[in-house]
Amino acid sequence: LKTLQRLELPAAADMHVHLRQGDMMKLVAPTVVKGGVDTVFVMPNLVPPLTTVEAVLDYKSQLQAITGDAVHYLMSLFLHPSVTPEVIAQAAKAGITGVKMYPQGVTTNSENGVASIEAFYDTFAAMEEHDMVLNLHGEVLESLAPEGTTLEEAFLPTLKKLHEKFPKLRIVLEHCTTAAAVEAVRACGPTVGATITAHHLYLTSHEACCDPFAFCKPIPKKPTDRDALVKAVVSGEAKFFFGSDSAPHPIQTKTEVQPGGKAPAGVFTQPYVTQLVLLALEEAVERGVITDEDVMQERLEGFLSRNGRRFYKLPDETQKKIVLERKGETIAQSVKSEDGKVEVGISRGGAEVFSLR
Ligand code: NCD
Ligand code: DOR
Ligand code: ZN
Ligand code: ZN
Repeated sequence: LKTLQRLELPAAADMHVHLRQGDMMKLVAPTVVKGGVDTVFVMPNLVPPLTTVEAVLDYKSQLQAITGDAVHYLMSLFLHPSVTPEVIAQAAKAGITGVKMYPQGVTTNSENGVASIEAFYDTFAAMEEHDMVLNLHGEVLESLAPEGTTLEEAFLPTLKKLHEKFPKLRIVLEHCTTAAAVEAVRACGPTVGATITAHHLYLTSHEACCDPFAFCKPIPKKPTDRDALVKAVVSGEAKFFFGSDSAPHPIQTKTEVQPGGKAPAGVFTQPYVTQLVLLALEEAVERGVITDEDVMQERLEGFLSRNGRRFYKLPDETQKKIVLERKGETIAQSVKSEDGKVEVGISRGGAEVFSLR
C-alpha cells in the first residue's frame, strides 16, 4: 500500500453521516463529494430531531438543493413515540430508508431518544413488514453498564434480542468500536450488518480521552479493538460496510471547553473519508496487523462501496469512479464558510494523504 501510487475505486457509499442544518449544513454537505462519496445515509439527530415524514422530506430537499445530482441521499427518521406503525407505512411509501434508535441521553441531541426499547416493538414489526432498516446507536447509558464493561458491549445483548425477535428486520449496529461488537454482528444472520467509521480505525481511548478533536461517541477503545475493526474491514464479509459517522461541531465548541466541561462528541472526517480509511489501513500494515495482500482491490471496493449498497438494496455498482494519487497532499486543518462564521476542525489535519479526483 505504501508503494502504491495510484488507485482507482468506485465512488464510496458512506452509510452514516451527520450533515446538520443551516450554515453548518451549507458548509459540510459539499464536502461529501470531496471525500470520494456519491451515496450517503443521513442521520436524523437535528434540532428538533426528524420525527415526521414531512420533516425528513423537507431536509432531503434542502440537501439536494446544495449538492444536486452529485449525491444520492438515503434518509432516516428519529425513533420517537410519535413514530407509530402508521407513520412507518407512510415513511416507507415516501421512500424513507431507515429509522435511527438513540438510547435516551447517550449522545448529541439524543435527549429525545428511547428509554424503553420494548415500547417500540409494534413499530419494529411494521418496519419489518415494510422492509425498512433499523439503525442502532448501540450504547447503553453510563449508569446501566456494569463496572468494567464498555457502553457498547453492554448493549450487545439488546442487538441479539432484537434480531431474534425480528429476524427479517434489517438492523445496522452503527459505528461499532469493539472486538466484541464485531463478533456479535458475525453471530447474527445476514439481516444484521454494521458500519465501521474511518476514525475508529486509527483512534484509541488514549487519544480520545484527551484531544477534543478525537473525542466522539462511542469512545474509541483499546488498540486490540481498533485492530479487530481493521481486520473486519479487509475480511471481505459483506455485513461490514463503511459509515464515517463524520460529526462536525463548530471549532469553538472543541477549543473553548470550559474548565470541568466536555467538548461535544464528534470527529469530522467528511472531506477526506476515503483517504483516511486508506491511511488507517496503511498504518495497520505497518503495525503488522494486516498485510498488503489483505488490502486487495476487491476487499476495498466491497467495504467502501459495494457492501453498503447491497445491504440497502441499491444497485451494487455505481457508475462513478474515483482516482486516488499520491501527490504529497496534506489534510487541511479545517473547513470554513466564506463569511468565516462557521469553521470545523478536520481529523488528522496535516497528515499526508492520497489526492482524490
Ligand atoms: C452539539 C451538542 O449538543 O453536543 N449540538 C450539535 O452539534 N447540533 C453542540 C454543538 O453544536 O457543538
Ligand atoms: O461522536 C458522535 N457524534 N457520535 C454520535 O453518535 C453522534 C455524533 C453527533 O451527532 O455529533
Ligand atoms: Zn450514533
Ligand atoms: Zn452518528
